[in-house]
Amino acid sequence: MTDQSIQTLSHVYPIGSHVDERGHLLIGGCDAVELAAQFGTPAYIVAEDDLRARARAYVGGLSALYDDCDVLFASKAFPCTAVYRVLAEEGLSCDVASGGELALALRGGFDPARVYLHGNAKSLDEMRFALESGVGHIVLDSLHDVERLEAVAAELGVTQEVLIRVTPDVSGETHAAISTGQANSKFGFGLADAPEAIDRIAESERLRLVGLHCHIGSQLLALEPFTRAVAALAALGDFDVYNFGGGLGVAYQQTQEPPSIADYVTTLVGAAKAAVGPGKRLLIEPGRSLVANSTVTLYTVETVKRNVSTWVAVDGGMSDNLRPMLYGSKYEVAIASRMSGFDPARQPNYELCQLAGKHCESGDVIARDVLLDDPQPGEIVVTPATGAYGYAMSNNYNGVPRAPVVFCKDGNARVVVRRETYDDLSSRDVE
Ligand SMILES: Cc1ncc(COP(=O)(O)O)c(C=O)c1O
Repeated sequence: MTDQSIQTLSHVYPIGSHVDERGHLLIGGCDAVELAAQFGTPAYIVAEDDLRARARAYVGGLSALYDDCDVLFASKAFPCTAVYRVLAEEGLSCDVASGGELALALRGGFDPARVYLHGNAKSLDEMRFALESGVGHIVLDSLHDVERLEAVAAELGVTQEVLIRVTPDVSGETHAAISTGQANSKFGFGLADAPEAIDRIAESERLRLVGLHCHIGSQLLALEPFTRAVAALAALGDFDVYNFGGGLGVAYQQTQEPPSIADYVTTLVGAAKAAVGPGKRLLIEPGRSLVANSTVTLYTVETVKRNVSTWVAVDGGMSDNLRPMLYGSKYEVAIASRMSGFDPARQPNYELCQLAGKHCESGDVIARDVLLDDPQPGEIVVTPATGAYGYAMSNNYNGVPRAPVVFCKDGNARVVVRRETYDDLSSRDVE
């Protein structure tokens, strides 16, 4: 294999992805077409080295700039035991937003002392589970949350360290559904209400307030709103811990150039050093930017139909990737055995296509207006950047079994979540 026969792919694909001399896509050294044959489609294919590289960029980048700091994996983005395990191995802490995510984080090997429980509607059972598990910190979201946690802590005879979530009235440019920093948000205490919560917890015998948290939104492609959020939090008083949440955006399409992890961390640390005094503990909790580009989804083309548009219908859709339906999110598409531009001798026949899912909703279109070169039934198509909020939001609509997760590294593939079976679909039935 000569150097010219291998193409490195754009930043949308996992780090280390290649196109080989036959024009096949390789993820983590594994041929995507062979992966599809071996594990079936749809399938989430994760490049383990990519996950680890981004984790190291976060942990190394933050700790190089700030002494007392920690990176929390916002595990809602990819709550799969194997992902928790890799990120625990890489030295991250963990953000969980429910009892279920907490159970998975513990199963994935996270030290409970390094887990932070979030949620605007934590149940009493979730609180008990967290306290009994020895979760290090709970992030409180409302006065009822304060009252209820205090009662559970008293019932169990423990004292719990907490942060409060503040809504800093800062919003970045993103989809309304994932914008959380604006004053009219279901999350957190507004700037005017935070002092009451701070005073209330100061009186508590069961809760110890160590700091403040904010998370202004997700898929943010500009850094300036983060700086404003840091300043807003700092103005609320002097605390030991500041958690500035997640939110850094990623590239779903080649034309998108989000800030790098290094630039993001540098900006946050600069803002923190300017706004809060020395000797503080600084936390961030990225989700999407840790995991999104680590993963591609493989599908098989089932049918191609031409009417007003060309509909290329595949064997998955809104059951494995809800984001196009929820947010109108856009994805790139390629044919995994004929990656574009690999063979200059071939005359391509590109056509504007709609990559349609298999579900019974007209809106179930994975990617609109994508150029594909004469796709045929049986061919494998790939959508990159599906690691965040794909598996996490997967579902069984139309009785479609959920897709497996396959980790690839150095040319070896291993299934870390198996495909669901038809029996799984009725496994909770009680007859
Ligand atoms: C409290 C909190 N922290 C962190 C995150 C992770 O955000 P992102 O995936 O954009 O990094 C979220 C996402 O919704 C969140 O709600």
